[in-house]
Amino acid sequence: MIEVDKTSKLLKIETATKSKLTSVDFNDIVFGKTFTDHMFICKYADGKWQNPAIKPFQQLTLDPSASVLHYGQAVFEGMKAFKDDNGTVWLFRPDENFKRLNRSAHRLQIPEFPENYFFEGLQKLISLDSEWIKQGVGNSLYVRPFVFASQATVQAIASLEYTFLIICSPAKSYYDGGKINVLVAEKFSRAANGGVGFAKAAGNYAAQFYPTSEATKKGYQQIIWTDSEKHKYLEEAGTMNIFFKINGKLITSPVNDRILDGVTRKSIITLAKDKGIDVEERPLSIDEVVKAHKTGILEEIFGTGTAVVVLPISSFSYKDVSYSLPQKADLAENLKKELLAIQYNQIEDRYNWTVKVD
Ligand SMILES: Cc1ncc(COP(=O)(O)O)c(C=O)c1O
Repeated sequence: MIEVDKTSKLLKIETATKSKLTSVDFNDIVFGKTFTDHMFICKYADGKWQNPAIKPFQQLTLDPSASVLHYGQAVFEGMKAFKDDNGTVWLFRPDENFKRLNRSAHRLQIPEFPENYFFEGLQKLISLDSEWIKQGVGNSLYVRPFVFASQATVQAIASLEYTFLIICSPAKSYYDGGKINVLVAEKFSRAANGGVGFAKAAGNYAAQFYPTSEATKKGYQQIIWTDSEKHKYLEEAGTMNIFFKINGKLITSPVNDRILDGVTRKSIITLAKDKGIDVEERPLSIDEVVKAHKTGILEEIFGTGTAVVVLPISSFSYKDVSYSLPQKADLAENLKKELLAIQYNQIEDRYNWTVKVD
């Protein structure tokens, strides 16, 4: 068990009088539906972030005119905390999530969040709720920082007030061995040049629900998003970055203003390069992938993201033709194993990616 220092120079800490922990069946966790006992909250008003605090997890009150409900001025992050075999809790590259949060905030005209509030809030919250993290690979705590425009106004301008929170949800990864079939987008787009695709803006996700649900009805689990101009270049898979192994090389789209700069993506690129694999960050067209499939050199396709780590794709469909991938995704499995071993502190972290929660 981790000792919790309930005092903080920066934060006001109010602990829950009763934990919900005993009412949770950790063998039957549905992702994103159960939340821990506490949350971090901070408000922006009068030109500054103020009153950072940890409170018992609770509902918020919001004016019906709150700007976010009308104009969607909101951004979020997603990261995970892991417990190693000694009971120590580790965060994976939280500095990357912090930087991306503020890049997203900047694009949405949201005031950047102070680094000391972010890290102190994150550390204290997770150590307070560390009992919610179970040991063993597959168990983790999903950490969701987010910020939204809370000013009571329907004026279509950037809000003058914001609310920042961090909430945490216990997660368990299940691998059911199911096939992941994806549909290459020919009509809908996730992001456009000059837009907000690189940001974790709430509206990016809202706009994906309809095309994704249409694809799901046809039996696909995800959409591979293509460039908005010609629907030719393969950019992301659902809410994952996407990699293609062609003739021994690993190819992924370069990050630009349409693509989320995934923390898992950059970690996988580093691990792959260190294994001596040739990694190319370049635009990759569907025509090149179909051709590679036809000539037998398309070896693997996989998605990367915090939730799944690495997810091998079994088939993709383009212009009503389905293309199957080889059953074995050796590189994907290999990279996933190594990344998980770093996250769970089972092997040496040569890269200084993990941050201890204490
Ligand atoms: C659109 C999109 N792409 C890629 C990712 C993967 O990013 P990360 O590896 O930082 O979780 C996510 C998830 O955060 C996402 O929402």
